[in-house]
Amino acid sequence: MNDAGILKAPVWSGVGTSRAHESAALHVLGQATYTDDIPEVQGTLHAALGLSSKAHAHIVAIDLAPVRASAGVVAVYTVDDIPGTNDCGPIIHDDPIFAPGLVQYVGQPIFIVVADTHDNARRAARLARVTYDELPAILTPQAARAAQSYVLPPMRLARGDSEAAFARAPHKVQGELYVGGQEQFYLEGQIAYAIPKEDQGMLVLTSTQHPSEMQHVVAHALGLHSHHVVVECRRMGGGFGGKESQSALWCAAAAIAAARLKRPVKLRADRDDDMLVTGKRHCFHYEYEVGYDDTGAIVAARVDMVTRAGYSADLSGPVATRAVCHFDNTYYLSDVEIRAACGKTNTQSNTAFRGFGGPQGAIAIEYVLDEIARNLGRDALDIRRINYYGTVDRNVTPYGQVVVDNVIGALTDELEATSDYRARRQQIDLFNATSPVLKKGLAFTPVKFGIAFNVTHLNQAGALVHVYVDGSILVNHGGTEMGQGINTKVMQVVAHELGVDMVHVRATATDTSKVANTSATAASTGADLNGKAAQDAARQIRDRLAAYAVKLYGGEPEAVRFAFDTVYVNGHAVPFPELVQKAYLARTQLWSDGYYATPGLSWDPKTMSGRPFSYFAYGAAVAEVVVDTLTGEWKLLRADALYDAGRSLNPAIDIGQVEGAFIQGMGWLTTEELWWNDGGKLMTHAPSTYKIPGVSDCPEDFRVRLFDNGNVEDSIHRSKAVGEPPLLLPFSVFFAIRDAISAVGDHQINPPLNAPATSEEILKAVTEVLAR
Ligand code: MTE
Ligand code: MOS
Repeated sequence: MNDAGILKAPVWSGVGTSRAHESAALHVLGQATYTDDIPEVQGTLHAALGLSSKAHAHIVAIDLAPVRASAGVVAVYTVDDIPGTNDCGPIIHDDPIFAPGLVQYVGQPIFIVVADTHDNARRAARLARVTYDELPAILTPQAARAAQSYVLPPMRLARGDSEAAFARAPHKVQGELYVGGQEQFYLEGQIAYAIPKEDQGMLVLTSTQHPSEMQHVVAHALGLHSHHVVVECRRMGGGFGGKESQSALWCAAAAIAAARLKRPVKLRADRDDDMLVTGKRHCFHYEYEVGYDDTGAIVAARVDMVTRAGYSADLSGPVATRAVCHFDNTYYLSDVEIRAACGKTNTQSNTAFRGFGGPQGAIAIEYVLDEIARNLGRDALDIRRINYYGTVDRNVTPYGQVVVDNVIGALTDELEATSDYRARRQQIDLFNATSPVLKKGLAFTPVKFGIAFNVTHLNQAGALVHVYVDGSILVNHGGTEMGQGINTKVMQVVAHELGVDMVHVRATATDTSKVANTSATAASTGADLNGKAAQDAARQIRDRLAAYAVKLYGGEPEAVRFAFDTVYVNGHAVPFPELVQKAYLARTQLWSDGYYATPGLSWDPKTMSGRPFSYFAYGAAVAEVVVDTLTGEWKLLRADALYDAGRSLNPAIDIGQVEGAFIQGMGWLTTEELWWNDGGKLMTHAPSTYKIPGVSDCPEDFRVRLFDNGNVEDSIHRSKAVGEPPLLLPFSVFFAIRDAISAVGDHQINPPLNAPATSEEILKAVTEVLAR
């Protein structure tokens, strides 16, 4: 051992490099196991839900005889058959599993039918004869507000004296905006497979972002304790927020049937049922009033938002809170009043969706800035920039958190240059001057997004790392894999700590019997929280190995280095598996738990103030579109996005997240339209009528880059979250479309454009501009 190279610590890192998703090969080969692919246990039965056909009604009578008589049917269960509590609500317990005599939306489950096959169950579910006594239904957020029908008390956040500030504002914009909801459209639908175990035990295999909550809901529904129930999820075929609370109904219903029959029961929703039953992104209606000066600086702002919460609270409170905390986006608002109300409507109970209210809060202020710029005849980027948060002053959010990591100025400079924004603006003006029908539009929009759950106690995580005697490593953590790459990142973190290549690390299914009391994988915090917990576990093992290595080879434990699958100790280079074997024989604990709780957070829901976020993630995007002003058709020609992922743990995965979020957010703001008929039935409940972006909607010229920036907070390897914030980047697409429409009126008129900006909506706006 005389090689100087091995005496010193070599430069090595298991994080920060682009590694393929741990399941990439399995995904591509079709070998990745989703819940429905798990081999079925002998005696498995299949279930379907019987749904309400009325938006609001008392159930006078239910005749289930035809359901029971249908081919292959084994059992039918209603509210009367629930052994425990008839509730699957995440926070406020107003979510019945089966309608208790009152139905509150079209699609609400009334019963579950269990049959020998999936098909037989589905056929039977439609045969119930339900007699309803109909009640008046509230279907829109505006109607809910008019009726003062709310699922929660309205909230208000105010700072400064907006009354006085409005009085001295030289100019004012005032108006209304409507931004539609969005279906999560995970490719794998909701599913739960409940398998009874001995002594009242219940194993539930399911597609969920929140295994611990599923465990609690199932235990309550069955009248059992949490330790009776095990919930497991290896991966989801997408969740996007739609499997945070909304998987509970399916888990509870399957478990109730399985417990009653003492047989395994699988409940898998087909697409139409999934869309009819489950909640979506909240649509928002805004009334705004903003005062500004001659330079375009905002001096006073007031917004009143009302959302379509649906029939129950679900996560609407936290979603509205995040909307309130993101109305500021990247802008300092000295005197501001923000109100939000969760309208109770006779529709699906709306829920989490990537961004969790943040996009809905921020788009309103962007709409306003767009109008101020047009009113002043200035480029919107300039107006945005002068309203940005400062770095030393003008840096306190309306909810009292000091913005200490503001990089939006530098990020804007970089993207303005790399996207060639100014030159393209000129080219577009020239194009529009000679093109009467086709109009081009360009927009630059920034993002600031708070990272952490607003509710402080949720910001904790646990992990379990096993080093086996052969040196291979197994990691389990409380987060769930939904395609976003959390397992890959956690595996990288563990590999980094132990100085081995990631190929020696394997991640296993999330399992409530391994790591307890987990939070939902949500709010983009999955890798932040579980990465830190796994690092804590791996570090403890590393420290024990280092102490043992020093016993064997001498030197100082602090000088022991783990890198390149090797342990470097006092001039010796020992292969990692060799040291592990020796340490085992010397009776060293080679596995460990790990835990993490994000420091420094606080939130007071009454005053809506505190330090709810650990840090902010930033980003910006530039979009260029061309709109056919005769048909309303349009195309995204080029998109440039720059995103602050801190010191990215895995740039390839992070860029994938930015691209995916961009296109998903673009779908929300353009083509994805939810439409309910007068009876309150969602008519867009399949891909035939609900248009998510396809690959051909991606711009041919799509330039996504990560902004070079270390997190000022001590996050996992100084990285930043990436899951949700990029969903706000395609605001640029929406405002580019609005810019193109505005070219029809030579930018003299603010086009009244609501989202989604479907072709019909675009044509309507063009017509209005031409009429003025
Ligand atoms: N990416 C994929 N591929 N599939 C998903 O379902 N969900 C998003 C985002 N990215 C999602 C995704 C949402 S809503 C969140 S909150 C985060 O991933 C959750 O994962 P993270 O906290 O590990 O980033
Ligand atoms: Mo994401 S909406 O926080 O699951």
